[in-house]
Amino acid sequence: MSTAPAFTPRVFSGIQPSGGLTLGNYLGALKRFVEKQEQGVETIYCLVDLHAITVWQDPSKLRHSTREAAAAFLAAGIDPARSILFNQSQVPAHAELAWIFNCVARMGWLSRMTQFKDKAGKNRENAAVGLFVYPNLMAADILAYHATHVPVGEDQKQHLELTRDIAIKFNHDYGVEFFPVVEPVIEGVATRVMSLRDGTKKMSKSDPSDMSRINLTDDADTIAQKIRKAKTDPEPLPDEVSGLESRPEARNLVNIYAALEDTTPTAVLRAFGGHGFGSFKPQLADLAVTKLAPISAEMTRLMADPAEIDRILGDGAARADAIARPILERCFDIVGMVRSRPV
Ligand code: AMP
Ligand code: TRP
Repeated sequence: MSTAPAFTPRVFSGIQPSGGLTLGNYLGALKRFVEKQEQGVETIYCLVDLHAITVWQDPSKLRHSTREAAAAFLAAGIDPARSILFNQSQVPAHAELAWIFNCVARMGWLSRMTQFKDKAGKNRENAAVGLFVYPNLMAADILAYHATHVPVGEDQKQHLELTRDIAIKFNHDYGVEFFPVVEPVIEGVATRVMSLRDGTKKMSKSDPSDMSRINLTDDADTIAQKIRKAKTDPEPLPDEVSGLESRPEARNLVNIYAALEDTTPTAVLRAFGGHGFGSFKPQLADLAVTKLAPISAEMTRLMADPAEIDRILGDGAARADAIARPILERCFDIVGMVRSRPV
């Protein structure tokens, strides 16, 4: 009997171009996107500009951030010949499939989404409707390609569960095996990189304090300074990982070291156990500069030629469209839409 899976493995992931990318995006997402590409699986990566406008974006800044995020992907090692790299709004299938999913997902499911609650804040009446249905668009991003594997950071787990629920309900309601039930790929030591100012908060591009994060555009001096000033406790590093419990800032810096060096927190503590932060931080700063400075330099080089970035995104969009359009057409047919327009 054949054990071949019904769906060929295909990786899809996305990042919002809503400001500069951080070390969290790099370790939790970008670096792992490159690893997937190197494994030889089909990889599709998307700058989700339609998601970004669920909160206000200045148009010229959005355009800049989209190109800058594309430059970050390329500088981190995404090869546009082997991966598809594009921005979401250039492929209409995302928004079209999202509408179908608006009619599949239930109000109750979306009301439980913690990202909506966080971003809408207290004044929910004033939140954009798009912010509420954001996860349906995310499900559409993934399912328009019949993607099977989605590498993301820990914060996206709930959205991926919703994507699974949408696929299952669609398949059930229409009596088909049409959409794959996707696998979240949340792995590695850096699935949740924390703020440098508060080890209990996620490192985020929207944090008001620039000292809380390392931006991929930061130069060597800025990176080193931010690490030197990172909040810590007065104790030396422990010998074992269990000693990091209830020391969120220490754990965060050890995890960052491990992720940058492609090793484990255990190995980091084997080398640094007993050391104070006075000796650990400069070594972490050196490592971070060694790994990140070439990325930021390459981003600057790429950003000098925005037309070339736009060309890469446009080419990626055409290739993405060629995959998504036939899937969307089959979906419309399943739902009962007459399709008769001459092509
Ligand atoms: P976003 O910047 O919210 O569009 O996130 C893009 C990707 O980066 C998603 O896969 C997130 O889970 C991941 N990500 C964002 N911030 C962090 C963080 N602090 N630690 C790990 N992964 C993150
Ligand atoms: N919601 C994700 C975030 O905020 C970004 C995203 C949009 C995404 N569509 C996606 C991630 C599809 C993975 C797959 O980080």
